[in-house]
Amino acid sequence: MKLLVVGSGGREHAIAKKLLESKGVDQVFVAPGNAGMTLDGLERLNIKIHEHSKLIAFAKENEIAWTFIGPDDALAAGIVDDFAQAGLKAFGPSRLAAELEWSKDFAKQIMVKYQVPTAASGTFTDFKEAEAYIQKKGAPIVVKADGLALGKGVVVAETIDEAVAAAHAMLLENKFGDSGARVVIEEFLVGEEFSLFAFVNGEQFYLMPTAQDHKRAYDGDRGPNTGGMGAYAPVAHLPKDVVDRTVETILKPILKGMIEEGRPYLGILYCGLILTADGPKVIEFNARFGDPETQVILPRLTSDFAQNLTDILAGKEPELTWLEDGVTLGVVVASEGYPLAYDRGIQLPAKTQGDIITYYAGARFAKNSQALLSDGGRVYMLVTTADTVQAAQSRIYKTLEGQKMQGLFYRSDIGDKAN
Ligand code: AMP
Ligand code: GLY
Repeated sequence: MKLLVVGSGGREHAIAKKLLESKGVDQVFVAPGNAGMTLDGLERLNIKIHEHSKLIAFAKENEIAWTFIGPDDALAAGIVDDFAQAGLKAFGPSRLAAELEWSKDFAKQIMVKYQVPTAASGTFTDFKEAEAYIQKKGAPIVVKADGLALGKGVVVAETIDEAVAAAHAMLLENKFGDSGARVVIEEFLVGEEFSLFAFVNGEQFYLMPTAQDHKRAYDGDRGPNTGGMGAYAPVAHLPKDVVDRTVETILKPILKGMIEEGRPYLGILYCGLILTADGPKVIEFNARFGDPETQVILPRLTSDFAQNLTDILAGKEPELTWLEDGVTLGVVVASEGYPLAYDRGIQLPAKTQGDIITYYAGARFAKNSQALLSDGGRVYMLVTTADTVQAAQSRIYKTLEGQKMQGLFYRSDIGDKAN
């Protein structure tokens, strides 16, 4: 069996590597992928994620069994619908089902309609009305661009002025383009954040271990929001009943609601959650795997990933098995300056061997050589599985200290909340 993965980041590296390790899988292509992936035997295609007809032509000519769609913008652009129309299978939600992610207002409406717990909110296109709402509710308060914004469209405002400035930037200064032409303004929730991912086909769902991301750029959850600087799974210190409560109050009603709305969900559903004093509440839904959570979740899967996804696509029960013990933890190495401006072209250390996996995100080959150079904000991630969080941390951080790091940085407290 030959498979295709669409996307280019660390998440897609982890997905494609796991698929290639599956029995019965001969080749895994990644479009467009990154140079680091080829060190694991993955084959890159020179096709961009928005070139649907080229991807479809490749899949047909090469008898790809099915295609895994990694990124949110591809799903929002209807890639799964285009594949279906061409008679091809793709693992991911249709454009209408993916609206759970690409419109925060849609997600809010459906949560309210099906009584899924989330922060109280209002949606605005008019700045004056948004400002009046902020004045009425007070701070702290959260201002979010409605559409996709590379994880940067959320402002957690400590003051009314900051919130009003964010709404102004989105609605009047066009800072996020069309994504910010509508804003959702919501209540600030207090509690510990965690993510729950599920494989979904309609009302059937299969849970993955819980994970915790670290979104801020610097230690102690300081600095700007990023795509995610590190993660671990499972989040063992969460109260025992949290996953059950999330399933009963959030996952089941939302999947049922999506069917009732004529948008049955197929793919990965990512629930971004805060455990408040009133139980888990939704911060956001994503219609895809998270990055970097995937890189710590998939190494824990002990069953045959490709077979599992083949079964889910066919509406069959997959035989999923996971590591029961220990913890998987990973630290992202990013370019200095990320998530703002940064340089590219920094020489990267050699790929790790043994019990540390290197997943590449922003990496390319130097001209005429096999040396890897940085080529993005998040560059690579080291991941390991150990008995305890502390053991995993010490193994990863010891390795990172031994790697030459000029022009790159990483957080030194990934996993501390679990200790
Ligand atoms: P998002 O891009 O929606 O994941 O939001 C980025 C980050 O903003 C989240 O990971 C949270 O830390 C924070 N955040 C978003 N919404 C809320 C909220 N309603 N209350 C508190 N923090 C929030
Ligand atoms: N780790 C956050 C995200 O993938 O959106």
